Amino acid sequence: MIPNNSGREQWGSRAGFILAAAGSAVGLGNIWRFPYLAGENGGAAFIFVYILCVLLIGIPVLIAEVLIGRSAHKNPVGSFKSLHPSPFWHSVGGIGVIAGFVILSFYTVVAGWTLGYIYEAINGNLLQYSLPDIAQSHFSDLLADAYWNVGLLTAFMLLTMGIVYFGVQKGIERGSKIMMPMLFILLLVLMIRGLTLDGASKGLEYLFNPDWSKITTGVVLAAMGQAFFSMSLGMGAMLTYGSYMSMKDNLPAASIWIATLDALIAIIAGISIFTVVFATGQNPDVGPSLIFRTLPVVFTKIPGGFYFSILFFIALTLAALTSTVSLLEVVTAYFVDEKGWSRRKAVVVFGFAALLLGVPSALSFNILADFKFGEFTFFDLSEFLSSNLLLPLGGFFISIFVGWVWGFDKVKNEIRQGAESLFDKYPWMLNYWKFILRFVAPVLIIVILLSSIGII
Ligand code: TRP
Repeated sequence: MIPNNSGREQWGSRAGFILAAAGSAVGLGNIWRFPYLAGENGGAAFIFVYILCVLLIGIPVLIAEVLIGRSAHKNPVGSFKSLHPSPFWHSVGGIGVIAGFVILSFYTVVAGWTLGYIYEAINGNLLQYSLPDIAQSHFSDLLADAYWNVGLLTAFMLLTMGIVYFGVQKGIERGSKIMMPMLFILLLVLMIRGLTLDGASKGLEYLFNPDWSKITTGVVLAAMGQAFFSMSLGMGAMLTYGSYMSMKDNLPAASIWIATLDALIAIIAGISIFTVVFATGQNPDVGPSLIFRTLPVVFTKIPGGFYFSILFFIALTLAALTSTVSLLEVVTAYFVDEKGWSRRKAVVVFGFAALLLGVPSALSFNILADFKFGEFTFFDLSEFLSSNLLLPLGGFFISIFVGWVWGFDKVKNEIRQGAESLFDKYPWMLNYWKFILRFVAPVLIIVILLSSIGII
């Protein structure tokens, strides 16, 4: 990053924002969460609703969220403070900070598993699983081990804290430039291998041939939650990254790039995984363990599978790391900017606090497996509440704020900067975006939220 006139740091290049934001967006959400949710929610029908949510809600809200950050040049709470006097709007930023903190706690549990799988890959363990059943029983054994879970959670949280502590800027931007392309290439290879398995076509059918009767309010809620989760939306991470963006950058174009890349990577991961699931006669709806039981099977069928599996879990771990870093950075930026804490203190205090909150999530797969809230373990509850509730609510308020409260003349002025030629060429785009922010996105979000809790 380079300082601009006001002394605040900015991304070093035009591609810097896109890569860093894509680094935040692309992570376990695409490779672990998207496939398992698609598997639990009926495949193609879920994917269809997910893509609709990305187009109708995700992209417009992403543009709005980044715009708030780029205009105010602050953390989520500080940005709302400098754009509006009412404490209500400041608390919207505050809810975001809390949501990010909860997501960090359970996300790091799964990120710990990927870290553990680097070790499994190096040990050659993964190559022994030519069948998903065996891969699954090995994964179950690991999950049953509370020390394995909590140890890896701790290790991953310390790694995240280390990066945020020593300054994200160089780390994130530089790291993303190397890891993103590498992850992409490895995933392409996995997808191609998946597609060439006998019986792969059944997987494709599951993914792309919708059975409309599978769409329920629960499926729609899961798809919307996933759109928010995967695009890192609704809690101020994109807002914070936008705050380092230059006024010369074309914000709508960059946002569309990020959303496309994010959805594309999820679909590629979906193809890699479901071709294996169906080629080996497995059940798609096994939940969070899905990738850990299917991918080892593909590694045994690829030449050089040993090295490939190591590289893959390293790339996945780093993709997860660019996401956890963006989560911890939001909490940190808030306490540094607004409360005058030192970066060091904020990272240590909230890193450890997120670690503590993560422990019951890590134990949800073993010691606390029977400790339930309804049908949810602590892990499920953290995941559900933050992704399906807090993020969409954040998105709702961002839409209302930019669509109605901020003043659309100002909004228009801000969004045009760096994108003049786009809006001169397609003037309708601005009105379309405004219409979505004012009506479509907020109404859809509220209807989906209310109907999922049974009110309408
Ligand atoms: N989007 C990331 C993923 O798909 C996770 C993530 C990072 C996130 N930052 C976020 C999710 C902020 C919600 C909000 O893996």
